Amino acid sequence: MRILVTGGAGFIGSHLVEALLPKHEVSVIDNLSTGRRENLPQEVPLYEIDIRDKEALCRHLLSHSYDVVFHLAAQIDVRTSVEAPLRDAEINIIGTLHLLEALRKQVPWIVFASTGGAIYGEKPQLPIPESEAPQPESPYGIAKLAGELYIRSIAGLAKMPYTILRLANVYGPRQNPHGEAGVVAIFTHRLLTKQPVFIYGDGEQTRDFVYVADVVSAFLAVLRYPQRTHNETFNVGTGKPTSVNRLYHLIAAMTEAESVPTYLPPKPGELRHNALSIQKLRVATGWQPRYTLEAGIRQTVESFQQRRPFSKL
Ligand SMILES: NC(=O)c1ccc[n+]([C@@H]2O[C@H](COP(=O)([O-])OP(=O)(O)OC[C@H]3O[C@@H](n4cnc5c(N)ncnc54)[C@H](O)[C@@H]3O)[C@@H](O)[C@H]2O)c1
Repeated sequence: MRILVTGGAGFIGSHLVEALLPKHEVSVIDNLSTGRRENLPQEVPLYEIDIRDKEALCRHLLSHSYDVVFHLAAQIDVRTSVEAPLRDAEINIIGTLHLLEALRKQVPWIVFASTGGAIYGEKPQLPIPESEAPQPESPYGIAKLAGELYIRSIAGLAKMPYTILRLANVYGPRQNPHGEAGVVAIFTHRLLTKQPVFIYGDGEQTRDFVYVADVVSAFLAVLRYPQRTHNETFNVGTGKPTSVNRLYHLIAAMTEAESVPTYLPPKPGELRHNALSIQKLRVATGWQPRYTLEAGIRQTVESFQQRRPFSKL
């Protein structure tokens, strides 16, 4: 199949591109704001287009046609979305609308990377199933929900099949340790480079940490079962909550760091607990995560040790 991955030069996108390559013709659209050319195999065509640039996007999609579009290009930093909600909306809402408009003539299958961490809000029962009403609190979560709703509406009217994947907290090799997102990458990088590690709040807040290879295998599982996944929304996570303290101690042990974390006041508006039910995708496709937290963290630490990614930043 001819496949386009927007945001394909980024963390998750580049792993997805690698996994798709053996069987498909893959192209990438990315403005390289956080993504990097080096993340991609040489043979993959990279079109440096900003999804806010509707004309450039339309021009590209007039001369290239795709069977499937994985839409991952996004502003992913919750704190940035709080400080600059308009910029976040321009990329995550308007950019998504530009893509939908530009795709209307080709009617490919659009698979959207949404968020399970920022869309549901605080829920009393964990893990959270897809049937729970979204109650996003940050502009990032609101913009992702808007993206979902626009995709359902516009793709639905255009008879363009779509699938929405609500990803939990993804971690793994190549994640940028210098933003606010990606606590595993931040802890790993700081512990390996002997910098202090900060934990906001008491560290007992929990998240659903899912290894990037498991997320990629979820995307591939969806691709294998179009009839069961068209026009559906699925969570992608592990179903298990892990505290930030536990995560810190795991990474500290694997990096053989002897430091202790510094506890700072909690960030306002931060969720206390999150974990996603993954039953729906499991039943539809047979997919399930393969990596334990220990195994995923080990892979991540080893890759950071070998590549020292971003060390000169
Ligand atoms: N990492 C996570 O834990 C997580 C969790 C839930 C959802 N997601 C979603 O998964 C997707 C990929 O996230 P990631 O962690 O790989 O982040 P990332 O920042 O590594 O990847 C995003 C990519 O989009 C590109 N991009 C950003 N703005 C763009 C624009 N205006 N035009 C074109 N390209 C642009 C960036 O250069 C980058 O390559 C995003 O949609 C994100 O919202 C990620």
